[in-house]
Amino acid sequence: MQETEEQKYLFICQSKSCLKRGSSHVRKELKQQLKENKMHKRVRVVNTKCMDACKCGPNLVYGNKLYQEVGGKDIDSIIRACQ
Ligand code: FES
Repeated sequence: MQETEEQKYLFICQSKSCLKRGSSHVRKELKQQLKENKMHKRVRVVNTKCMDACKCGPNLVYGNKLYQEVGGKDIDSIIRACQ
């Protein structure tokens, strides 16, 4: 049996409140950075519905960690966490 690299998932809310707070832009930036770092096949960005934490959006989950109020300033640290 051939061993393959583990697939990881980054879940980002794309519901109304988070969209108003810029989650679409965050999603786009994350996907671009993952591709530039050749991580896009190993780390998939998955859209989710409301995570019931709207006041702290944009919200995303990677591994067991919830990231809140995510903006452009946070992209680099999230990418590093995915490495
Ligand atoms: S809309 Fe994103 S957590 Fe509710």
